[in-house]
Amino acid sequence: MSGHHADNAGRADTGDARKTAEGLAYLSGFGNEHSSEAVPGALPHGRNSPQRAPLGLYAEQLSGSAFTEPRAHNRRSWLYRIRPSAGHPQFTRADNGALRTAPFTESVPDPNRLRWNPLPDPAPGTDFLAGLWTLGGNGDATQRTGMGIHLYHANSSMRDRVFSDADGELLIVPERGGLLLRTEFGLLHAEPGEVALIPRGVRFRVELLDETARGYVCENYGAPFQLPDLGPIGANGLANARDFRAPVAAYEDVEGPVEVVNKFCGNLWRATYDHSPLDVVAWHGNHVPYVYDLHRFNVIGSISYDHPDPSIFTVLTSPSDTPGLAGVDFVVFAPRWLVGEDTFRPPYFHRNVMSEYMGLIEGAYDAKAEGFVPGGGSLHNMMSAHGPDRETFEKASAAELKPQKIDDGLAFMFETRWPVTATEQAAGASHLQRGYDDVWQGLERHFRN
Ligand SMILES: [Fe+2]
Repeated sequence: MSGHHADNAGRADTGDARKTAEGLAYLSGFGNEHSSEAVPGALPHGRNSPQRAPLGLYAEQLSGSAFTEPRAHNRRSWLYRIRPSAGHPQFTRADNGALRTAPFTESVPDPNRLRWNPLPDPAPGTDFLAGLWTLGGNGDATQRTGMGIHLYHANSSMRDRVFSDADGELLIVPERGGLLLRTEFGLLHAEPGEVALIPRGVRFRVELLDETARGYVCENYGAPFQLPDLGPIGANGLANARDFRAPVAAYEDVEGPVEVVNKFCGNLWRATYDHSPLDVVAWHGNHVPYVYDLHRFNVIGSISYDHPDPSIFTVLTSPSDTPGLAGVDFVVFAPRWLVGEDTFRPPYFHRNVMSEYMGLIEGAYDAKAEGFVPGGGSLHNMMSAHGPDRETFEKASAAELKPQKIDDGLAFMFETRWPVTATEQAAGASHLQRGYDDVWQGLERHFRN
């Protein structure tokens, strides 16, 4: 097993961080029982909790599911660390900034179609945590149901502080700027077009690989994301398990003040530790962070006629107690060929019991000719009518149906079982587009009888 020794706590500049990020090794697979040690001999063999753990380390279990959940859903990792997590001072309340958490009660759910431009640039010295801005969400974090939709913008690395989220797992979708994620399990590198997942409760720090960073976060309060079942598709396809990459163990042996910020039931709490809690020298288990390159998604679509339902583009799904009904699906619209005959090829006009938040990572989306821009997003709530804009409809209805490659865009969707309530700051934002309804005006009547 290979290891990586992270030598310093966030003091490196972006050049050093990029060099570190590009040299990382990974473990391959989704939901595996992985194991890794940064120092040979750090991982106990034959048991999880020996009387004395190797190398004077402390053994600690991190449970991401109830002990008794079925094996297929059971998640836990064993961490072998320099100090146990329990040795920390008292947490005190910190300012929540622009972070909000379900239940979202500060405004009423809005049936209108909403669309936003990207967040304005952040103030100087804004790191990933300070730059989190909540757009909306649903459910109730204390009941572990639903999700929060956040955007982030940052121009500074997190320095001498780490973050963990007890309320849910964080699916980070970079749109601008690479990220180096230093986690308890080791280091991850995520560029725009890739996604990173930090499991519930795992501590991490975000360093920027470019001057600025911007993107989206799905905070999933519900069941951990898993790969969707493939049914008749077969054993392969969509997001393939081997393309998910988990970190190898890497630890910080840093004495000195480190601020630990913990999001708990909607509020931020902080404590100053006298050491870095990213001090895990070895670990094994399946409650682990990972990265995935969306360009690896094996896109499956129609080779005869009609546009399949966009569930065919599901990368990850958070199941609910009702079979087939997701708390949230993460769906990607990746480069693909369109070959359908006698088919209106862009996404169809639609009203949906599920609610759809869409964002754009790069390029353009094939149902919207303009106005839907990278870093922006749209919200089509439960049963709100949406679909191609007027210009797209007219073009696609008249197009000659030759095989066509859609290769200039990467869009995604958080599709969720409950209506999304926008936060007050999102509903009143200066970057909320006025007149989004206009894209569907002027769709002429063509009916003849
Ligand atoms: Fe839709």
